[in-house]
Amino acid sequence: MDSNEFLAENARLVLSDRVIESGWIAVADGMIAAFGEGKGPAGAADLKGDTIIPGLIELHTDHLEPHFNPRPEVFWSPMAAVLAYDSQIAASGITTVFDSLRVGDDIEPDQPKKKSFSTEVFELADALKAASDSDLTRADHHLHLRCEVCAWNVLSDAEAFLSRHKVDLISLMDHTPGQRQFRDIEKLLVYWRRKLSRPDEELLQIVDKRVELHQERAGPHRRGLVELAQRHGIVLASHDDATLEHVEEAIGDGAAIAEFPTTVEAARRSHESGIRVLMGAPNVVRGGSHSGNVKATELAEGGYLDILSSDYIPASLIMAAFMLPSMVPSIRLPEAIRTVTLNPALATGLNDRGEIALGKRADLVRVAMADDHPVVRAVLRQGRRVV
Ligand SMILES: [Fe+2]
Repeated sequence: MDSNEFLAENARLVLSDRVIESGWIAVADGMIAAFGEGKGPAGAADLKGDTIIPGLIELHTDHLEPHFNPRPEVFWSPMAAVLAYDSQIAASGITTVFDSLRVGDDIEPDQPKKKSFSTEVFELADALKAASDSDLTRADHHLHLRCEVCAWNVLSDAEAFLSRHKVDLISLMDHTPGQRQFRDIEKLLVYWRRKLSRPDEELLQIVDKRVELHQERAGPHRRGLVELAQRHGIVLASHDDATLEHVEEAIGDGAAIAEFPTTVEAARRSHESGIRVLMGAPNVVRGGSHSGNVKATELAEGGYLDILSSDYIPASLIMAAFMLPSMVPSIRLPEAIRTVTLNPALATGLNDRGEIALGKRADLVRVAMADDHPVVRAVLRQGRRVV
């Protein structure tokens, strides 16, 4: 059960640049030791034509939230939430995950405090660390700190967080109405009406207040956060870039990743500047963005899509990767799989994984195809079976 050796044949291997239609693969000491075409060495297990892909690498998931805070006033034990979430992540074929935790309160200090997923980040990060340190998790966990730049306490909380935890990715989010993700205020109101169920007059007052806070805080807070990321050597991501000015700012900040650009022009400029463009896998699966912004497949057609992220549905990552070639004819399977493996690995400096290549970590997923639907049958992390 705990072995990290593995030898199998009769498998379709998806390499980073081509597919071996019928091949074999050997894992030794948790690493990919050998692979090739045709029949494997004696003793190889028969994979019955299933597909082997590298373990998926997920950079932006907030799926821990429904496990920890499943109903408005219900909070689950952080450790139990982490373990249930981790199982779902691994069963979705994800072997490396950046857990997105947010700093920066929406509630101003003069308003009554309310417990939420966002206010409990320290507790959740402690549970994630404890689970990883005790080797209780199936996936390899890293932290992604999402910083809401207009929040009053974003800088102090980010600093406090970094003094306690190792963070591998920081994203700069600004959800001020009228720009970026919510350029169309009417679409934001539709979303808020459902979520907040308050009269429109009150919602419009919130809009005005948020715009005011943006003018006061966005500039200095963003500069402080960029400086913090640089001081700690943490990879930086911009978020919801909509205009060329946003992209220029991200270039100036040294961002390596552009999360969810909302327009073709922002995505194109980011990609051409060497910033890897990340889009939501649910956007691919659903055929569009839930907030009415640019379609991920439109960016893929232009050649500007680098990375997919499962965002709020872990299983969407493998689905989207296998769907892309049929939705975008210029994309072949190796390129589609790269958006969920090698590209996110390179963007975050994880050069030891993300492809089927000699000497890389044996993070592997065995996938059966049920018609066109990928089914995760087994997952190895460093050669050890975790699913
Ligand atoms: Fe956003």
